[in-house]
Amino acid sequence: MQLEALGREARAVVKGNRIAVVTDETVEKLYLNRCMQSLKCAGFDVYSFVVPPGEEAKSGMQYLNLLNALAEIPLTRTDALVALGGGVVGDLAGFAAATYLRGISVIQVPTTLLAAVDSSIGGKTAINLPAGKNLAGAFHRPALILRDASLLESLPQTIYQDGMAEVIKYGVLADADLFELLADKAQAHRRMEEIIERCAEIKMRFVEEDVFDTGVRQLLNFGHTIGHAIEHATNFSVSHGKAVAKGMAMMAEISMKQGWCSEETTRRIKDILHVYGFDLTIVQQKDVLYDIMKTDKKRKGGMIDLVVPEKIGRCRLVRVTIEELGEML
Ligand SMILES: NC(=O)c1ccc[n+]([C@@H]2O[C@H](COP(=O)([O-])OP(=O)(O)OC[C@H]3O[C@@H](n4cnc5c(N)ncnc54)[C@H](O)[C@@H]3O)[C@@H](O)[C@H]2O)c1
Repeated sequence: MQLEALGREARAVVKGNRIAVVTDETVEKLYLNRCMQSLKCAGFDVYSFVVPPGEEAKSGMQYLNLLNALAEIPLTRTDALVALGGGVVGDLAGFAAATYLRGISVIQVPTTLLAAVDSSIGGKTAINLPAGKNLAGAFHRPALILRDASLLESLPQTIYQDGMAEVIKYGVLADADLFELLADKAQAHRRMEEIIERCAEIKMRFVEEDVFDTGVRQLLNFGHTIGHAIEHATNFSVSHGKAVAKGMAMMAEISMKQGWCSEETTRRIKDILHVYGFDLTIVQQKDVLYDIMKTDKKRKGGMIDLVVPEKIGRCRLVRVTIEELGEML
């Protein structure tokens, strides 16, 4: 759906008359005018709140500044926020919407590939604390998600590639046909709009089954346990998508060695990651990664659930002890 349809679509889900659009400085220059124009044409009073680009916008200070700005307008319970941007803006605006006046509606308009296929869906919202990423958050599902694939055309290649790691993850996890389609890069490029919709449907399906992330939704973490450890070990100089790609490759290797999947499955996972230009080498010492994984917030006592590929299109959870994980690494 095109960004120009936002005002009309918002009318169907927002009862009030005021909308505040949250975006970052990069996206502001590209799409804020079009976004606000569409909302104004539908009769809304429209306000904007712009944050600097990048992870630092998910800070407590930006969050409080945003709440104060909403209170000054003032937005009421029936009004809404629009998150126009990537996962950072989506998480910040989503958390503000979850908590302002004990919860107002949020509309997600993702502008990165990662946001379109992942972070805008499912209602996880968060900001970072000095002690770590995403430590304060809430489940608050969007009233509407407007995906306009043409907004992704302005993405720098490296940020687009980060999103591709998640796209490939969906193929391995739940859709062997999607995996096949991705293997032909030129065809995949032509059919990107359809691919994004397919990934979004897969995520929606997992979320509907497990809204609060205590069961099947954990399968969406394929590649993420090791990926998070790599992000931490490098002080986030390796981006999320690139770390997840390394994590998926390493999990595929481990699964093959444990007899959970065939050599062929592991080869295909690594091949497709190479097709999309991912560097799969891991330079960190395994002890460093292991120490970080021991503190993974998804750990359950002395156990951790690994997402392992069984074959292309199907993964499952395997519960192992922390010590077993150390041995596998
Ligand atoms: N809530 C969830 O379920 C969930 C899931 C995964 C990740 N996340 C969060 O998402 C965040 C990462 O999101 P991201 O990768 O989208 O990063 P991001 O939001 O920081 O965007 C990356 C960069 O791209 C720029 N940008 C955005 N859209 C653009 C466009 N169309 N054209 C040109 N530039 C554009 C941004 O200004 C930014 O500099 C992390 O904070 C992560 O914790 C949340």
